[in-house]
Amino acid sequence: MESASADPFTARLQSAASRVEAELEQILSQEARDGEIVRPDRLLSAMRYGVLNGGKRLRPFLVIETARLLNAPPEPALRIAAALECIHCYSLIHDDLPAMDDDDLRRGQPTVHIAFDEATAILAGDGLLTLAFDVISSDETALPPEIRLRLVNALSRAAGIGGMVGGQALDLMAEVDRPGEAAIVRLQAMKTGALLRYACAAGAIAAGSDDGTVARMTRFGEIIGLAFQLADDLLDVTSDAATLGKATGKDAGRGKGTLVSLQGADAVRQRLASLVDEAEAVLSPFGEKAQTLKRAAGFIADRNR
Ligand code: IPE
Ligand code: IPE
Ligand code: MG
Ligand code: MG
Ligand code: MG
Repeated sequence: MESASADPFTARLQSAASRVEAELEQILSQEARDGEIVRPDRLLSAMRYGVLNGGKRLRPFLVIETARLLNAPPEPALRIAAALECIHCYSLIHDDLPAMDDDDLRRGQPTVHIAFDEATAILAGDGLLTLAFDVISSDETALPPEIRLRLVNALSRAAGIGGMVGGQALDLMAEVDRPGEAAIVRLQAMKTGALLRYACAAGAIAAGSDDGTVARMTRFGEIIGLAFQLADDLLDVTSDAATLGKATGKDAGRGKGTLVSLQGADAVRQRLASLVDEAEAVLSPFGEKAQTLKRAAGFIADRNR
């Protein structure tokens, strides 16, 4: 790609993505770790297929940039970033299953259950979920044990019943329930917002920041988390599969309750613009140092894939 001529934000995005890629490659290597017996070939291949396949790596980028803003050590931050991406990729593999959104295309390729089979896709997701907690808790993530414990606990809350998984359950119900605005905002804060919120909180926790700073970064993550799913819902209506690497028109096709279906695209665009302003305002105490994260808020709202 054109990193030599890219603007500083794009260059940072690309450099974070390539570091995360290398870390994921290492985490998903064939060799069994201490305490493991063997990593079965077909399962490992499905996990690698579901992860090492051109995602935007936005959640890892947010971990890395928050960590950088608050002076957390970069190597452990990279491990946390890669672990979070494993959970995100697991959520996509399961989201695409026939029992859920029933999608055949993801990141421009056949989904894991199409390229392999359903049972393998379910297990690949399970394997990635578990691996994330291995990576963060392991001694190789060189942070004090109490910080690793906080990171693991916060990730459990973000990914589980009161976070992403709970949000996915509410999202499936939203195909029949016709939820109103408040219910849609809440389910989106869970299914998508929770992992983005964690991405921003984790950098602050890894830095050993004070509670006020962790709360500020958490708030930033909440706002961009909402913006992220609103942009996804808009793209589902306005973009095409060649650009997005996944099918479009899916939400309307399944009768999914989104703010786009409830209020229309223009209202959602306005809401996105005010979320970006709000996110930038939350970072104002950090001044120039937070420039990259401020740009990330705008990028998330305006992205075209
Ligand atoms: C897609 O996430 C699923 C949602 C939470 C809306 P991304 O748009 O970050 O997907 P990748 O990782 O870049 O493929
Ligand atoms: C996915 O939301 C959220 C999670 C995977 C947790 P969507 O179902 O809208 O995501 P896409 O559009 O399939 O990427
Ligand atoms: Mg879904
Ligand atoms: Mg989906
Ligand atoms: Mg979508």
